[in-house]
Parts: sequence; C-alpha cells; structure tokens
Amino acid sequence: MTVRHFLSLMDLSQTELNTLLKRAVELKALQRQGVIYEPLKNRVLGMIFEKASTRTRVSFEAGMIQLGGQAIFLSPRDTQLGRGEPIEDSARVLSRMCDAIMIRTFAHETLDTFASHSQVPVINGLSDDLHPCQLLADMQTFMEHRGNIQGKTVAWVGDGNNMCNTFIQAAVQFDFQLRIACPKGYEPDARFVAQAGDRVLITQDPAEAVAGAHLVNTDVWASMGQEDEADARVKRFTPYQVTPAMLDQADDSVIFMHCLPAHRGEEVSAELMDDPRSVVWDQAENRLHAQKALVEFLLID
Ligand code: CP
Ligand code: NVA
Repeated sequence: MTVRHFLSLMDLSQTELNTLLKRAVELKALQRQGVIYEPLKNRVLGMIFEKASTRTRVSFEAGMIQLGGQAIFLSPRDTQLGRGEPIEDSARVLSRMCDAIMIRTFAHETLDTFASHSQVPVINGLSDDLHPCQLLADMQTFMEHRGNIQGKTVAWVGDGNNMCNTFIQAAVQFDFQLRIACPKGYEPDARFVAQAGDRVLITQDPAEAVAGAHLVNTDVWASMGQEDEADARVKRFTPYQVTPAMLDQADDSVIFMHCLPAHRGEEVSAELMDDPRSVVWDQAENRLHAQKALVEFLLID
C-alpha cells in the first residue's frame, strides 16, 4: 500500500480535506464531552524539531496522548541528526520504529527526502516554504465561526512567507479568493502563486487587500531563520501593521487570524489581538483537534 504523507495541503484531495475538518470538529466535541477515544494505543509519533515550537509540539504531543498513543520529541541538539547523519538514513531508521514522523525544518527538500525514504507517513510541521498543519486549524476555525469559506475573500497582509504560501494553496483547495498585500521584494514564492491562477491577487496596498474581506491574516515580519533581518524588516513593513481600523475596511463579518507567536506592536497592534473580531486563541486550540483528525486519517483510515 502507498504511504500517504502530509507535506502540503495538495497531498490531500479537496474532499479529504473537508472530511478531515468535519472530523476535527467531531473530535473537539468528543473531547469537550470528556469521552475517552484511544484508537492509537501503542502507536508512536516521532517529532523532529529543527526550529523552536510551542503550539506544534504541544498539540501533537497532547493529541497523541489523548488518542491513546505517544509522541517522542527529537531535536538535532541531542540526536545524530545534529552530527550529520544523513536524512535518508534517519528516515529509514526512524520509520522502522515509529508509526508516523512529524518534521519541522528549514529547507522543504529535507521533508521530501525524508518522506521518500520513510515507510510511514511524514507530516510537515513547518518548513521555510509551507505550514499546512496551521492551515487545517485555520480552516476549521473559519468554518466554526462563519461556515463554508468557499467563495469568500481572504486578505493576507505582511510578509509573503511560509504561511502566506500555504494560504495560496488553501485558496486552491478550499476555493476562496486571496488578496495578498506585501512590500515589494517580499512577495510569496512564485511557484505557489502560479499554481493558484486567478484565485490570487498581489498588491502593495493593504487597503486594497482588506476591502470587503471576510478573513484577514497576518504573521511575523521575520520568520524563524530570518532573525538577522528583523530590524530592517520592521522599517519596511511598518505600513503593513494590522489594526482594528484596518479591519473596519473589511466586510462587517470579518474575523482576524494570526498563527502565533505574535509580535504585538509590529505585524499586529496590541489591541487587535483581543478585539472581538480576533479568533487567534481558537486557532491555536484547533491545532490540537485538526491534527488529531490528521493522524487518525493517516494512521487508521
Ligand atoms: N503556529 C505555530 O506553529 O506555533 P509554534 O511555532 O509555537 O509551533
Ligand atoms: N512564519 C513563521 C511561522 C511560525 C509559526 C515562521 O516560520 O517562523
């Protein structure tokens, strides 16, 4: 049987993605009711983190425990990965011991290489290019607050980074219009933009992106690995700060998302985080439920 991986949103069909999100909502309800559901007893998720994480680590670890399994945290600092053991060899070994492997890394090719040598499903826990697990939670969150996102208008304001690239893939898979406002030179990856055709518009004007939007998103101006550029980016990105006043230009039903961690006073104003239109805490919680649905899909279905 072919092993299914989740390296990008394009690895699942539109139907599979929608079914998975409905399942995430069900699993959330079961957990709220205190129902014990342990279909992954004795199953193990290996988690390789080459970058820092709070939400991704805790949501996968808690999710595996709640489903009856276990997760193992692996960092390059204390495994042979940090001493140069080839990715291919690590994939062969770890996939003989674990039932699935999650990787947070820099170059997306690391995930491709690992997956092509793994006997078990590999999950992208964030790469420099994409963060598909976050988009599962984000799409679940939109569905819970506003229903179907199909045909809606979504605005991205800020850096054309891994989250922005993933929103482009989400526009294709969930069928919405995406308007991206970013400074010149900080546009999303042209490969992803080309995949999306006329679903995506790119502008340098935040007001153009946000006008009439049903969902407004932003993310940090300097992602992990870009720490040296942080000061220069603050100067360049200041007009792109998302504020309550900017949201006032959107549709009356607009909600605001941020994958977190946030830098209040940079990409998002301090007051917007706790504005009634902000759903950032629900997004963070839904990492747990959406990823439980994902591991169930990859390991049981
Ligand atoms: N949003 C997100 O992936 O958060 P962490 O970096 O804390 O995992
Ligand atoms: N764009 C951010 C997302 C963090 C969850 C980064 O890659 O650091």
